[in-house]
Amino acid sequence: MTKKVSKVVFPAAGLGTRFLPATKAQPKEMLPLVDKPIIQYGVEEALAAGCDQIIIVTGRGKSAIEDHFDHSYELEKLLEEKGKTDLLTVVRQISDMIHVAYVRQKEALGLGHAVLMARELVGNEPFAVLLADDVIDGPVPCLKQMIKAYEETGSSIIATQAVDGPAISQYGVIDGKTVRGKFGGRLFSVNNLVEKPKYGEHPSNQAIVGRYILTPEIFKALDRTPLGAGGELQLTDGMKMLLKKEKIFGYNFEGVRHDAGDKFGFLRATVEFALKRPDVGKQMREYLKSKNL
Ligand code: UTP
Repeated sequence: MTKKVSKVVFPAAGLGTRFLPATKAQPKEMLPLVDKPIIQYGVEEALAAGCDQIIIVTGRGKSAIEDHFDHSYELEKLLEEKGKTDLLTVVRQISDMIHVAYVRQKEALGLGHAVLMARELVGNEPFAVLLADDVIDGPVPCLKQMIKAYEETGSSIIATQAVDGPAISQYGVIDGKTVRGKFGGRLFSVNNLVEKPKYGEHPSNQAIVGRYILTPEIFKALDRTPLGAGGELQLTDGMKMLLKKEKIFGYNFEGVRHDAGDKFGFLRATVEFALKRPDVGKQMREYLKSKNL
């Protein structure tokens, strides 16, 4: 029997330099896709996967995230007085949705370091890590698919997607073998992890994206991990250390991933999400058609 995964860590203390100047005074996690901040898509995915304890790793200038998941008395009172009950429900749902705990990463010393900041709050149980700027749209929430794989294997699971062509050299890549007869070929047994391999020297086309299920052993592994690229504590390096002690699997999830921390990825996600929305979808489709591109 594996322990239930109920906690999800959201590292949100990065500087978001790819999105400057928009991220100078506001966190990139609060950039909206249509009308919802990207971090809310992640929190909704966590809830849909049956995880109800959210831990957000924040840093300086990130208070908008805390305000977003808190009550907003003035706004709620105003909406109530004006009889705007639909909007009132939307606003209340966000703060009623979940219990959120916050922990601070004083300096952006890397994703591995951000995860390590959540150690006390996670304790001795398996947990998920969700990078909110990787927005994943799937038939089944990505984290839910991964938790199923965790329950079957009892091991840490890394989300992967197939990347063909030179773009593979921008990712961490797994060196692994398909586990036959399980999860329709989506599960990979990991032998090694290679950060940003040269195109042609990449061990597979399975690129690591922003979802992980980790056993608590990762904290000990991160403790022993030396600083890596950019003088930062890298999560991939920590997982390589973990591989020496435990098995790790890759899971090629079903769904589409948008890199909303990247300008073009964000624009693409905006269009895709807008097209699916009942309130603006039709208008968006007509507008795009009218462009005759
Ligand atoms: P990114 O690699 O996207 O870095 O981090 P970033 O700083 O946020 O953005 P760019 O590349 O400068 O534009 C991946 C995730 O890890 C978090 C980020 O907030 C993001 O969710 N992170 C990264 C931390 O929480 N702390 C860190 O020290 C680094």
